Amino acid sequence: MVRELTSVIEARFSAPLLRFVREAGGLAAQRGERLYLVGGIVRDLLMGLPAPDVDLVLEGDVGSFVGALREARLGAPLSHSQFETAKLEVEGKTVDIARARTETYSHPSALPQVAPSTLEADLLRRDFSINALAASVLSEDFGRVVDVCDGLEDLEKKQVRALHEKSFQDDATRILRAVRLEQRLGFLLEERTQEWLVRDASYLDTISGDRLRHELERLWQEQAPELTLSRLDDLHVLPALYPALAWDRALAASFARARLGTPSDLSLSAVYLALLGCRILQSQAEGLIARLNLPQGETRAVRDAARLDAVLRDIVERQPSPAAFVEELEEFSPEALWAWALTAPAETAVRLRRLVRDLRHLRPALRGTDLMELGVPPGPAVGEYLRRLRAALLDGQARTLEEERQLVLRWLATGKGV
Ligand code: CTP
Repeated sequence: MVRELTSVIEARFSAPLLRFVREAGGLAAQRGERLYLVGGIVRDLLMGLPAPDVDLVLEGDVGSFVGALREARLGAPLSHSQFETAKLEVEGKTVDIARARTETYSHPSALPQVAPSTLEADLLRRDFSINALAASVLSEDFGRVVDVCDGLEDLEKKQVRALHEKSFQDDATRILRAVRLEQRLGFLLEERTQEWLVRDASYLDTISGDRLRHELERLWQEQAPELTLSRLDDLHVLPALYPALAWDRALAASFARARLGTPSDLSLSAVYLALLGCRILQSQAEGLIARLNLPQGETRAVRDAARLDAVLRDIVERQPSPAAFVEELEEFSPEALWAWALTAPAETAVRLRRLVRDLRHLRPALRGTDLMELGVPPGPAVGEYLRRLRAALLDGQARTLEEERQLVLRWLATGKGV
């Protein structure tokens, strides 16, 4: 494995980003400080993957360094926090700068006590060896890889290895991070790491709803989140996430199908959550919503997915008209309906797909004013005619504007409109 990334950085960074890191490195050196690329970006550059946003670690004071960058007109500062971190924008890329620090945990999942440190100590506090790699951007050794945890060897062995036995206890979100990374990269958990991960799964209880939800949001951004969920299930770790969660190959296949065909006005993350909701009872769905402190849209998706189980059974039995099918179901979250479209038996699935894709958007071509011109009295009758007209469209009784007009005239003549 290469120990030097100069040519890779030169080839992969845009010209403005390359200029930025070189000049920022030069500035740090002038100030007697050291500046490094660190974490996921180094890992991905070494693997030849597309470079994610840029993380830099500074051995020095971030506030005054960002001030110096500003004076030198390098990067556009977006934010700067009291915790010695700053965010900048360089030609559309976000660049994070953090002070090199150690973190110690007084008890599992406590907020860490933070103290300034060297780069090497900063690397040692990290989650996995392949994330504990850095590359210098100082001119004296630009591109040199710093590897104090044998991360290069693990990249070659294609394994995710935690740096110490208490890593998952210190921060149980690493349980999800480890498996997500393993599945994304096509690696394997190193043997002891896997033992520690399984042993410490219950530490997920120490993670707040917001942090857990944030981890899941990152999971939904993965190319195939079902791989991570399947692996967590194989490791018997899924119940530690939430005890009622069910998982099997059919659900994994539904996740994959969700990615291919979900209408663009739906949230794919909410569809994934709703798919989990399809398999649990309503009371369990409420527990999951509370555990993850879900926002409104996703709460509705999970809640409705669980409710729809019984509702759909009932509807299928009653065999309602197309209009009644739509009218009874359109109050439910479209993501929940779509989740059921991905999991229900064929006939129901087809009807649900049409409902979510087309029918819920279907409106009569005639407007209220058109109806009044045809003779419908102003007031509530207009709304009622519109509702009936929509039902007629859904049942296929009118297909064109002219057919809608004829229908309305017929209802007016027979007094059957309202
Ligand atoms: N990190 C850690 N423990 C955590 C979260 C993060 O040690 N619980 C460290 C890792 O070194 C990681 C870095 O912080 O590489 C940045 O975190 P993040 O941006 O979440 O990770 P990336 O590796 O950049 O992940 P991704 O590729 O998913 O963006």
